[in-house]
Amino acid sequence: MFKKILKWTGLVLGSLIVLLGLFYLYVSINIGQRIEKKYSFAPEKLEINQDSALLTKGAHLTAIKGCKDCHGADLSGQVMVDDKALGRLVSANLTKGKGGLPANYSTTDWVRALRHGVDANGQALLFMPSHETTLLSAQDMAAIIAYCQNLAPVHKQLPPSDLGPVVKVMTYLDKMPLLAVEKIDHDLPMVMQVDTLEGVAMGKYLAVSCSGCHGANLKGGDPVAPGYPPVANITSTGHVGKWSKAQFIQTLRTGKTPEGKVLKNENMPWKMTAQYTDKELSSIYQYCQSLK
Ligand code: HEC
Ligand code: HEC
Repeated sequence: MFKKILKWTGLVLGSLIVLLGLFYLYVSINIGQRIEKKYSFAPEKLEINQDSALLTKGAHLTAIKGCKDCHGADLSGQVMVDDKALGRLVSANLTKGKGGLPANYSTTDWVRALRHGVDANGQALLFMPSHETTLLSAQDMAAIIAYCQNLAPVHKQLPPSDLGPVVKVMTYLDKMPLLAVEKIDHDLPMVMQVDTLEGVAMGKYLAVSCSGCHGANLKGGDPVAPGYPPVANITSTGHVGKWSKAQFIQTLRTGKTPEGKVLKNENMPWKMTAQYTDKELSSIYQYCQSLK
């Protein structure tokens, strides 16, 4: 009797392992094909009237949009993660140094990357949040591009990304934004005008940068990846609903919440939010408060 149970348990476990193996094989092939897929988008022009105000704005935007968190303070790229589960995730060297963008990388190439999530060859950019940058206004995009085109060249050759099993499975289950190109409505025209007055509209425009983790409705939810804390609800129905504007700004500048919680920058990038202006944070606060 006991032997029989053991035998059946063994069979069931064995079949499960084989099934899981097959599932993973299927997922790997599926993700591989989606990465290999070539895209083609009509080239778009963007007028860039470069002056010092635009470059200053570009410097600010690359700080508050997380470009520097992922691409490094000098935007020369870096290995962002390297572990068994997630694999090796590498951002690009955005300077014109060795290992960086090619000398002929044009404004059109920049716009293609930020608007459509593909490189100059039409290959999907991995982990580059183009589904967020595609919502940038033409003016903000011009500022970012102008700033990046003027970066001091940094010679840095980076290894290619090498996706781990967790990234593949989470991407397959649509729990991770590996392939922004698949998430973008490519027919949407570029945003030409945004509200620059402090208020809910401006907050909504800026909060696109929070939505990647806090969700489109900013209500938070499951951790962004295994090993990370759940994402907080930052609408009026969460803690933020009880905070004053000053407390909200204080939290996003210091990483300490009014409840006494210390936010880790790796989980909640407060060193990035610290660089928003008062006007920008006030607007985001008003937008968060407007959501139930
Ligand atoms: C979450 C991390 C992350 C953030 C935030 C991010 N990037 Fe990226 N970006 C990447 C990664 C990773 C790649 C490399 C993609 C690849 O090689 O497949 C990349 C690639 C790029 C490329 C493509 C270069 C090429 O080879 O064609 C450009 C341009 C770029 N990023 C600009 C930006 C700018 C500008 C910002 C800020 C508005 C930004 N990125 C924010 C992760 C990020
Ligand atoms: C990379 C993911 C990520 C991004 C981007 C992000 N957050 Fe967060 N945020 C988190 C996580 C995760 C937590 C919860 C941290 C914890 O519990 O330790 C959090 C917590 C917070 C809290 C504290 C809430 C509370 O109840 O204590 C506030 C406020 C907040 N985020 C605001 C923002 C705003 C505003 C933005 C955009 C400007 C933003 N976050 C962008 C991941 C992110």
